[in-house]
Amino acid sequence: MRKNIVAGNWKMNTTLPEGLALAKELNETLKGKALNCDVVIGVPFTHLASIAAAIDTTKIGVSAENCADKASGAYTGEVSAAMVASTGAKYVILGHSERRAYYHETPEILKTKVELAMANDLTPIFCIGEVLEEREAGKHFEVVDAQIKESLFHLSAEEFGKIVLAYEPVWAIGTGKTASAEQAEEIHAHIRATLAAKYGETVADDCTILYGGSCNGSNAKELFSKPNVDGGLIGGASLAVDKFMPIIEAFDK
Ligand code: 13P
Repeated sequence: MRKNIVAGNWKMNTTLPEGLALAKELNETLKGKALNCDVVIGVPFTHLASIAAAIDTTKIGVSAENCADKASGAYTGEVSAAMVASTGAKYVILGHSERRAYYHETPEILKTKVELAMANDLTPIFCIGEVLEEREAGKHFEVVDAQIKESLFHLSAEEFGKIVLAYEPVWAIGTGKTASAEQAEEIHAHIRATLAAKYGETVADDCTILYGGSCNGSNAKELFSKPNVDGGLIGGASLAVDKFMPIIEAFDK
């Protein structure tokens, strides 16, 4: 079944004590609250084990922000999917536009990362999205289709059923410029149609597709009210509980 998810992506922010304090504060705030969505926090590798041990992971899923494209061995500085899973994390964000742009992650590399994540029972939160020039040239539909096909369409329908997608237009990330709810709905519906053509209506219907890019307490409700927007992947506004909570509570049904 399709789930509503609000996921934070802390990116390269917070020291370990700061991150632990933030996670504990969120944990306390959510205690005893009935929620209409799953909550996930994507945190730096260094924080995973401590945070997973300090919070109620049945209430807040813990996610890595990346994993290696190799299983193990002589890859100095890399962190494998198995290592991530061993911390208690259940998710891994893959294919974020910052990883694609600054660390040259290709569709092929991402395909391997997805496979390794899934082999270690991690749920990939797989990011797709166009840059501004592509949107202005009307190419956003084909760009997201290619990103999905190149890294995910080798999966069986059963495997694909475990993927969470996050549509993040690059021009909206950290810019304060959000896609309108209509723009988000239009491309999310398109993505779902692409999934239906490959895997059939049921798999497409069941896929959680998050929106990311300057999502905040003021625009979350309108975005999440759209039938094909199943939640958000939240950067800046996930770094303070008083900013993250209104987004979580934007799901009031
Ligand atoms: P902002 O919410 O800071 O725009 O970041 C979005 C994002 O990149 C989440 O992965």
